[in-house]
Amino acid sequence: MLRYVQEQEAWDQFIRGNLGESAKLVNVSKFSSDSRVYESSGTIHKIRRLTPASMRNRNNSLEDEYLVLKRLSSIRGVPRAHSYKRIDQWEQLEMEVLPALQGYDPTFGRPKETLIDFWNVIQLTWELNRNGCSHGDLHRDNVGRNIQGSISIFDFDQACLDRPWRCMIRDMLGLGTCERRSEFSLFNRLRDVRGIGLVLRAVVRVSKHLLGFLSRTPSSSVVPNPVPEPAFMERARLRADPNLEVLANAWRLAARAHASAPGVDIGYYSIDIAGINFPGERPWMLRWDRIQKGIDFKGKQLLELGCNMGLLSIHAKLYGATACLGIDVDKEILEAAALASRAFEVEVAHRLLDLDAPFPWEGELKGFDIVSALSVLHWVKDKKRAWAFIAQHNEVLYEGHESEQEAESNLRQAGFMHIVRLGATERNRQMFYAARS
Ligand SMILES: C[S@@+](CC[C@H](N)C(=O)[O-])C[C@H]1O[C@@H](n2cnc3c(N)ncnc32)[C@H](O)[C@@H]1O
Repeated sequence: MLRYVQEQEAWDQFIRGNLGESAKLVNVSKFSSDSRVYESSGTIHKIRRLTPASMRNRNNSLEDEYLVLKRLSSIRGVPRAHSYKRIDQWEQLEMEVLPALQGYDPTFGRPKETLIDFWNVIQLTWELNRNGCSHGDLHRDNVGRNIQGSISIFDFDQACLDRPWRCMIRDMLGLGTCERRSEFSLFNRLRDVRGIGLVLRAVVRVSKHLLGFLSRTPSSSVVPNPVPEPAFMERARLRADPNLEVLANAWRLAARAHASAPGVDIGYYSIDIAGINFPGERPWMLRWDRIQKGIDFKGKQLLELGCNMGLLSIHAKLYGATACLGIDVDKEILEAAALASRAFEVEVAHRLLDLDAPFPWEGELKGFDIVSALSVLHWVKDKKRAWAFIAQHNEVLYEGHESEQEAESNLRQAGFMHIVRLGATERNRQMFYAARS
């Protein structure tokens, strides 16, 4: 049996005991939900539960990160580290809260500001490099203009200490001068900048085609590459826990389904269980943290629209819902959802249904206490009809692609007068719980 609920309770206990009741989860790594960031009493706490998944993929322990930050403590824009602790299987790094990044997408608009920001990022990066540190992960979620207008840089878990020129080569060009090369160098980031990005992408595409053409082999000798088995499948099998294997199969199916990230073989959500990371585009735990704090599912019947792998239904069931039905338009993802609920040993019903189907399916989906429409209406053509259906319920859990004001106004128009903001999700979109009164 998966010890999933116990693992979450261990997290809650550690956080409550060390950071207090009011600690707020601000980030979860998509590479491992056992690496999290909390804010409590005006400080940031990076916490890692030491599991195989949380240690894989990372260059540094939190202690290494602490030492790096200590070396950079005089640089403006770098968070000051206060302390590092290791308690049994837990690591805890405490540091200063810096103003959050503005987080705009440089691909759209404002090329002049983007270039000015870019120049400022280069200057800050050079400061790090001069001090013998390469950040190694200059992704736009980690460095950029903050809400106060200056530049902040976060997340030194890929950083390394080396000679200044080596650090510069790694951060500017992404070449591997430390233990590993940098995935997000400044050169790589240039591809995001409007105008320059278009030209760079075109050059890369043409070069790839050219290389492919020059190195092509006669068709008779082409042997198709076998699809390698995902690492999490192997790890799950090694544990000899049938539920973990079922879960791994669910993730493998989900990765290939059309309902997941288009063009990439990866599922929608990432989650860690028993020290294994089941990979996905976005961390599930951040989303569930927001939902769980705002909604009590005990005794309720949930209808999950566009359920994908049905993680919401599974969690609602684990935390007391009496019945859950997940509907989705994608047959494969529903097969994955059925396997996932089997792995968690909870009963969730699933139904293949297109919310744009012409027949009156509304009449067949009656009697639910709460309906969820998380990131799904965006894909539905007839939004008026979908809202009319949602309006038939007493409670709704909602996340849209429209602005927060528009979302609130849509909820009010559907007759939900009591609206609660549950917090921003990993894609910086607000989630709402709303009830009729
Ligand atoms: C972006 S995912 C959201 C998953 C989940 N609701 C969440 O946010 O946690 C959207 C899901 O909606 C499903 N979907 C898209 N259009 C749909 C439609 N017309 N009817 C039913 N499901 C649909 C997709 O297959 C996909 O699984």
